[in-house]
Amino acid sequence: MMTASLATVSYIGATILFILSLGGLSHPESSRRGNLYGMIGMTIAVLATVFGPRVTMAGIPWIIGAMVVGAAVGLYAAKKVQMTQMPELVALMHSLVGLAACLVGYANYIDTSIQLEGAEKAIHEMEIYIGILIGAVTFSGSVIAFGKLSGKIGGKPLLLPGRHLLNLAGLLIVIWFAGSFLHAESINDGMLPLIVMTVIALLFGIHMVMAIGGADMPVVVSMLNSYSGWAAAATGFMLNNDLLIVTGALVGSSGAILSYIMCRAMNRNFISVIAGGFGTGGGTPAAASGDAQPAGEVVSISAAETAELLREAKNVIIVPGYGMAVAQAQHTVYEITQLLREKGVNVRFGIHPVAGRMPGHMNVLLAEAKVPYDIVMEMDELNEDFPDTDVSMVIGANDIVNPAAQDDPGSPIAGMPVLEVWKARTSIVMKRSMASGYAGVDNPLFYKENNRMLFGDAKKMLEEVFVALKA
Ligand code: TAP
Repeated sequence: MMTASLATVSYIGATILFILSLGGLSHPESSRRGNLYGMIGMTIAVLATVFGPRVTMAGIPWIIGAMVVGAAVGLYAAKKVQMTQMPELVALMHSLVGLAACLVGYANYIDTSIQLEGAEKAIHEMEIYIGILIGAVTFSGSVIAFGKLSGKIGGKPLLLPGRHLLNLAGLLIVIWFAGSFLHAESINDGMLPLIVMTVIALLFGIHMVMAIGGADMPVVVSMLNSYSGWAAAATGFMLNNDLLIVTGALVGSSGAILSYIMCRAMNRNFISVIAGGFGTGGGTPAAASGDAQPAGEVVSISAAETAELLREAKNVIIVPGYGMAVAQAQHTVYEITQLLREKGVNVRFGIHPVAGRMPGHMNVLLAEAKVPYDIVMEMDELNEDFPDTDVSMVIGANDIVNPAAQDDPGSPIAGMPVLEVWKARTSIVMKRSMASGYAGVDNPLFYKENNRMLFGDAKKMLEEVFVALKA
């Protein structure tokens, strides 16, 4: 078993590794190293906790048993889950962090071995109350987010009449019950206010996420990520575990920063996303949305004609989206890129911050296919280059190249910055049909004069383009 000082030194080491890990994850080139730091840090943290001074020998078999069960479920989920289902899995995992914070809170409250007096007792009870509050909101909010992301619950925002007043009333009741909880004479007296608060927090979590429309779900997932960090930090306070406090705070603050970055990428005001009501359901065919069809004609193109346009081009920008991930077309995209570069074509990739279904989704796929980092650019880096581009090739993307975000103030995605692919001499959109994307809105790009549609599965069509290019 470890001594207390060795455990503390290990905790400090793990904290430093977690900070280095976050730093590494901020860039594709250093992200592998970042992951490695995180894994080493977590191994040290787990070993220092399990073999540290606060766990008795009798407890170790229990912990190892729980770890074996948890690891088996984790391994199974990691093997089975598709990359495109990752946000759902993440939402589900956040719910577990929230549930753990609640259970630790209740266990701490009924633990008679903790004997505190005066201010110390009040602080400890406050930690329990706030920990359970954050945990319950995170738990129920994440379960609803899981339901929405997996399509089990509809994407339309649920707007109850007077919903802001309802939330305010809930908050006031929670504050009032905090008073009676802190003044409770016995554990039995304190249990009622604690349970009432937990129920209100659970309802608040459900209400908060139900009120958010499909288009804003990416922000909600990263916001719940932040909440799960604060829930872990609260657990750290309850258990007097410094490492859990620091790690929770790191997750909490990085999740909050990510939410802010995503809000900016979608031109959303953070507060109004939380207040809810934005966004619509996703995935409905454009023709069924009931809105007026954008003017113009849809012109389709064949794979051979696409290859011809690419062969004649000097500058090409490829914009990948969710459809490239679904079709697993990244390797074929890379083969085409290589071939074009050998022919002297300047090929670059334009990545939108919310392309796909999770932050960095496209970067991960392109890195997996070995596309060099130096031709993968962020939206801001190349948006002004489209007018000098011969062909912009959109592969399974839709919302992130929708001109309505700029032109139609009434659109649910109005104001969201988009990749201006229509400014290229010719834009080619590869997708299977005229169906809308995640935000469920029509895309006037498809009807523009200089746009061509290459209908079909992205991988199949790209393979045909590749064969035609080689011929
Ligand atoms: P979307 O707007 O969702 O469009 C993807 C398009 O891919 C669809 O219109 C679909 O059209 C096409 N597609 C699907 N399977 C295909 C296949 N096998 N081959 C070819 N095309 C296929 O995607 P986007 O442009 O990447 O935008 C992302 C959207 O997701 C945004 O609205 C964003 O807010 C949201 N979102 C993002 C995140 C993060 S963090 N990135 C998380 C959740 C939600 P067809 O059906 O006609 O083929």
